[in-house]
Amino acid sequence: MIKTLYLPCYVLKFNSAKIEGHYLSKSKGTKMELTLTQPDDWHLHLRDGSLLDAVLPHSASHFGRAIVMPNLRPPVTTTSAAVAYRESITRALPASSNFTPLMTLYLTDSTKPDEIKLARQSGAVFAVKLYPAGATTNSQDGVTDLLGKCLPVLEEMVKQDIPLLVHGEVTDAAVDIFDREKVFIETVLQPLIHKLPQLKIVMEHITTSDAVRFVESSKEGFIAATVTPQHLLLNRNSIFQGGLQPHNYCLPVLKRETHRQAIVAAVTSGSKKFFLGTDSAPHEKRRKECPCGCAGIYNAPVALSLYAKVFEEAGALDKLEAFTSFNGPDFYGLPRNKSKITLKKNPWVVPESFSFAFGEIIPMFAGKTLEWQLLL
Ligand code: NCD
Ligand code: ZN
Repeated sequence: MIKTLYLPCYVLKFNSAKIEGHYLSKSKGTKMELTLTQPDDWHLHLRDGSLLDAVLPHSASHFGRAIVMPNLRPPVTTTSAAVAYRESITRALPASSNFTPLMTLYLTDSTKPDEIKLARQSGAVFAVKLYPAGATTNSQDGVTDLLGKCLPVLEEMVKQDIPLLVHGEVTDAAVDIFDREKVFIETVLQPLIHKLPQLKIVMEHITTSDAVRFVESSKEGFIAATVTPQHLLLNRNSIFQGGLQPHNYCLPVLKRETHRQAIVAAVTSGSKKFFLGTDSAPHEKRRKECPCGCAGIYNAPVALSLYAKVFEEAGALDKLEAFTSFNGPDFYGLPRNKSKITLKKNPWVVPESFSFAFGEIIPMFAGKTLEWQLLL
């Protein structure tokens, strides 16, 4: 006999092995399960060399595809460099993996429109990344004046239908670090969309209610945003809780609680404009725990569990799959994945650290217990 328990946003059925069309199922004596179309990660730092070898298996076992950030040293500024980087990622993949890296180009003041044509022809490059010079890790070669220096390139991106991915912070030292996203929207993004309304833009890793409002009020299909687990679960208190917490330091920096709540409300609303982008950004422990620690949170091993936690706590598990698996490919004009993954309600403890020959990487929520576990 099947018993049905009605919860606000979904239906839980007991004693049922598999129920078509429902997200959650629980058989008697077994744990609750959540089956989703294979998610993709629309903002990921995979690094290169031994760091790439170390972190790639985590992303490859959780996600079908990922938009791979180009902020290597030297940055990936050309299509040929992007293709070479894609090959090194593919070589580093476990043999059984179907993971597909989607490459990006690092925009500079001197990027040429022809590079955008090459990018489109390559079939390997899916976006161009804007780092305002000096905004974040390895952004020293980034753009100093977007509309002044890059307009011909942006126009070519419209023609080639290649999206601009934006690190949305001004770098002006006179602007308070907590206001940099808001000021970027006002001084860079608004003029940009006014000038080039046909340009597809993803505001990456949004952190404020200002960004939520900007995206919500913009044209669907042209402006979207990725959202990280850290900006959904943590506020700026986490950087200072009980002492300085370098593993909660990322850019854009965590903001106050009201902003976090606005982002949670946006992603759990069911809007198609928001999708999963972990911004998983590994740095060795010794580069985080030092006098001038790097920005970046390593969340690839925990990201899916954390997103599920956010949606569950908001009573919106029925909206999770669109966020993790539909909105991203729909925006990029790519097919949705066909395969499925299963998350199980099975409390597990996040490792305190991952050790490699070169050193350690500390994951987000290290040592904490999470409820949802990916069945691998
Ligand atoms: C990223 C990194 O380490 O590459 N760091 C971060 O804090 N998110 C760069 C970035 O996305 O800003
Ligand atoms: Zn990033």
